[in-house]
Amino acid sequence: MKKIVITRKINPTMIQKLEKDFRVVLWDEAEKPMPRDRFLEETADAHGVLTMLSDKVDEEMLSNARNLKVVANLAVGYDNIDLESAKQHNVIITNTPDVLTETTAELAFTLMLTAARRVLEANRQLMAGEWSGWSPYHMAGTDIFGKTVGIFGMGSIGAAFARRLSGFRTKVLYHNRSQSELGETLGAEYVSFEDLLSASDFVLCAAPLTDETKHRFDKEAFQRMKDSAFFINIGRGAHVVEADLARAVETGQIRGAALDVFENEPIGKDHPFVNMDNMTLLPHIGSASVDTRNNMMNLCVNNIMEVLNGGNPITPVK
Ligand code: GLV
Ligand code: GLV
Repeated sequence: MKKIVITRKINPTMIQKLEKDFRVVLWDEAEKPMPRDRFLEETADAHGVLTMLSDKVDEEMLSNARNLKVVANLAVGYDNIDLESAKQHNVIITNTPDVLTETTAELAFTLMLTAARRVLEANRQLMAGEWSGWSPYHMAGTDIFGKTVGIFGMGSIGAAFARRLSGFRTKVLYHNRSQSELGETLGAEYVSFEDLLSASDFVLCAAPLTDETKHRFDKEAFQRMKDSAFFINIGRGAHVVEADLARAVETGQIRGAALDVFENEPIGKDHPFVNMDNMTLLPHIGSASVDTRNNMMNLCVNNIMEVLNGGNPITPVK
């Protein structure tokens, strides 16, 4: 029987589906990643692996896994995977596009509204027993209607976010590697990265992490933004130079940031962003609805079964 390694506790029905035809080895923890040495040991003779974005699929792992045919990553992003090395070892990589688009766009919207209306700050005040009553500017925030929203990365998630904006009477700008039909269809205007930064009241990063987009949001980028603007990130932490963002928010160069992702996850209480009032921080839950996570798991399982049964992957990367 071919061997499949699953690096985190997933829905038991998906495991049962695989166990009909394969030997499944499971890291049966929901919260903690499979330790690296165990990962290397178990994948050494595996034919398929279902990975999380916290697992590094690199040359060391791939050259060690002599039977490996397919790695199904439970994420739309795949910056944890060395694609070049996978190609050299003839390993097919799959991800989970489309099934998480709407859910992730909803989280991006949640971040935007939460930051604009100071929801967490207001909640913290109330919970601490520090609410002294109604007053004219108490927790007064920022409107979204009538404002300009800039989307960096007009892929499916960026487009789903833009679609949601249409009810808010905003002007929508976007920037991509190249002008996208998707953007134009949604009435969004293509602009340069620099213009996106300087014209937007809200800047959303929804791009994949690549060599080109890594650390794109740096000191210079935040300097271009309005001092009333918010930066929202649902991409990857490494899109941002975090020290530059902390300084930009601290010094009032921008109004605030709303982040679902960080360069080194998980972050703890000692991270500079924690305890800054103008930071809305979430623990990487962009696609985390129960239905969507089940759909993502199902897609990973189907990708593995297709490849190991001699068929074509459903959602291969590239
Ligand atoms: C989550 O960050 C994903 O890439 O799916
Ligand atoms: C606020 O609650 C208002 O009535 O304006």
